[in-house]
Amino acid sequence: MTKVGIFFGTDTGNTRRIAKSIADLLTQTIAAKPVNIRNASVSDLQGYDTLILGTPTYGEGQLPGLSTGNATESWEEFLPTLAGLDLSGKKVAIYGLGNQKGYPGEFVDAMFYVYVQFKQCGATMIGAWATEGYNFKASKAVIDGSFIGLALDQDNQKELTTARLEQWLNNLAESWN
Ligand SMILES: Cc1cc2nc3c(=O)[nH]c(=O)nc-3n(C[C@H](O)[C@H](O)[C@H](O)COP(=O)(O)O)c2cc1C
Repeated sequence: MTKVGIFFGTDTGNTRRIAKSIADLLTQTIAAKPVNIRNASVSDLQGYDTLILGTPTYGEGQLPGLSTGNATESWEEFLPTLAGLDLSGKKVAIYGLGNQKGYPGEFVDAMFYVYVQFKQCGATMIGAWATEGYNFKASKAVIDGSFIGLALDQDNQKELTTARLEQWLNNLAESWN
């Protein structure tokens, strides 16, 4: 099988560190080296059949990028470059970082915007995750009762992250094997 491409946005490094953990857990045989989305082109993403995409949420439930005060461009600037592209046949899983205590009404919302864009391009979205174990009021990233990807909270539930990652990656492996 082709390798799994891992792309992430980040401002303060948490989502990059998780990308690295994902690559380590999957091992080099399966995972490509994670790439910051601000350094990626559309054709970089097209080079993989399976993608794992990570995003933090900034502003009030927004994508990371210049308008939310991030130091660099990020998903906010990248996503529009995908408009009209055909990504059918690709499997895409998303993980999102957020803070459920600080932003209980917009927890990990940015995952939703990444999800919608890739779904519009025809990708097969995988990696839904149950909402049990989190304490928040609302999230755009919850569809049909589940998060559309893996929600992680390094600000309040760091100790749960490794187990969540391992479980999620095991679940994903069933979809791409
Ligand atoms: C200014 C600011 C706004 C934030 N807004 C949200 C938000 O709307 N929803 C959320 O779940 N988390 C929010 N967060 C939390 C971040 O998503 C979280 O700290 C994340 O781990 C940061 O990832 P990074 O280190 O990869 O940039 C916000 C954090 C900051 C500093």
